[in-house]
Parts: sequence; C-alpha cells; structure tokens
Amino acid sequence: MPDVYTDYMTRDDNEVQSNIGYLLHPAIVASLPPKPRIADMGTGTARFLLLLREQYPDAILDGYDISPRLFPQENTLPPNVSLGILDMKQPAPKELHGKYDVVHVRSLVAAMLPTDWAIVVRNLSELLKPGGFLQWEECDFAGAKYLRGLVGSTVDAVRFMGKHFRNTLGERFEHGWCTLPREMRDAGLNPVLTDVAASDRVAETRKTLTTSVTEVFFSSARLMAERGAPGAMTNDQLDEMAKRAREDAESGGYVRYELYVACGQKPKE
Ligand SMILES: C[S@@+](CC[C@H](N)C(=O)[O-])C[C@H]1O[C@@H](n2cnc3c(N)ncnc32)[C@H](O)[C@@H]1O
Repeated sequence: MPDVYTDYMTRDDNEVQSNIGYLLHPAIVASLPPKPRIADMGTGTARFLLLLREQYPDAILDGYDISPRLFPQENTLPPNVSLGILDMKQPAPKELHGKYDVVHVRSLVAAMLPTDWAIVVRNLSELLKPGGFLQWEECDFAGAKYLRGLVGSTVDAVRFMGKHFRNTLGERFEHGWCTLPREMRDAGLNPVLTDVAASDRVAETRKTLTTSVTEVFFSSARLMAERGAPGAMTNDQLDEMAKRAREDAESGGYVRYELYVACGQKPKE
C-alpha cells in the first residue's frame, strides 16, 4: 500500500507545491546563510531538492531515503546534490548531528505508524544546527471533500472510491498533519510555525490532482482485489467505477484536501 501512495505523491509534487506556494517557509528563507546546507528526508525522486537547487544554486543539498528505488541516476545529479540511504526511524548517525540549516520532510504519512512520529521528529532534530529549522509537510487526506467545479458536475464515483481508500489506510491519515506541531514542541523545537493551504488554492491544478489521486484509489482497490482482502471490490465493479470516475473528472468534479506545513526551530545556543 505505501508503494501506491509513494508513486502518486512523487508524480504530483508540482501541483502540491504550487498550492502551498513555496518550497521553504518564508521564516526559514529569512534565516538562511549564503551557502545553506539542506537535507531532504524520505527524498524519493529528489524532486524537492532539484527544484530547491534552482533557487539556491550554491546550497549543499543532501537527500536521504530508506530505499534508492526512486533515486535518479547518480550521473544526472548536479554537483551540489547528493543522495544516500538512511532510515529516519533509527537514531541519526553521529557524524550528521548539528550539520544542517534545514531538514525537510514531505508526504511520509503512509510509512508512519502513530507511535513513529515522536521518535522521527527527535531523530531529525538532532541533524539541525542551533537555529536550524525542521520543515515537514503532510496532507489531511482523512478530511478530503469531493466537490463539483461547475453547475452539473458529478463526483459520486470519485467520492465512493476515496472513502474506500481512506478505509484501507485507516488511522494513518489521522496523524502527522495535526500532530506534528506538538511533536516538534515536545522535541524542544521553539518556535513552531504552522501554515495550511487547500489543494485547490490554484484552481488550474484541480483536474490533474483529482485524476492522479483517483488513480491511487483504483491502484489500491485493485491490489486489495488481487489479494482477496476482506471488503475488496470485484474487478467488474472497479471497471464500472473507473468509467464513472473518469466522467466525474471530465465534468469538473474534484477532490479537495488541506496541505499542512509545520516548521520548528532548534534553539540558538
Ligand atoms: C510518498 S514518498 C515521498 C517522496 C518525497 N518526499 C516527495 O515528496 O516527493 C515517501 C518516501 O519516503 C521513503 N521512506 C519511507 N520510510 C522511510 C524511512 N523510515 N526513512 C527514510 N525514508 C523513508 C520512501 O522510500 C519514499 O521514497
């Protein structure tokens, strides 16, 4: 299941980031030295770092992931971007302690159990220099709404599949977006800043986001069908629903959810 989510999230990062409106929170940007050292944890395709590099060509940008599965070829990476293997749930290696001006994380919810958040926030705080920031973005997918964009749009099939998906991932979606500020304060970060934007803030992104989110709903449901999981839909039901969901998106029906940003600063010594 996390793989289905991973594939979706890594495909639509441009739309998600356009709706947030920045890569780094303005308070972090204001704090950066001329040659910042920035880490992206659970970096996936390293897309975030490659976009960041356009704004900070002199920065040192290190991406880490538990798996190299989505890493771009090493010889395609710019000289100031490097990638490595690291499990955020394990204590951070001593040689990385106090090394970064910013540690960034995005869309890890599917890989996190409710009890993991506090441990991971503490591990990542160790990587920060005094005065450095942890910035973490997660969406409130449990609170997704299914709306019509035009008079006469339909959205029932997308809504039905969204609820099916939500039931599959269950309580994972109830953590992170709403608990990260507290976890950051508990880890000693201060101040903790929060921000929230809607996934449809930029109206032009609605259809693309809806189409790809819907693909995730179906990939997940087909996986459940293959495994004969309890409550799984049949392939015939899924084919019929897929046709109706395409009609929903074409008619202007769309899914909307909130994108949350939490930023915590390590106190200056
Ligand atoms: C949904 S993808 C998000 C990728 C990237 N952050 C982005 O927004 O484009 C989640 C990524 O987290 C990685 N991941 C999962 N568990 C991890 C862990 N314990 N430590 C480090 N990376 C992890 C996965 O391998 C995957 O690449």
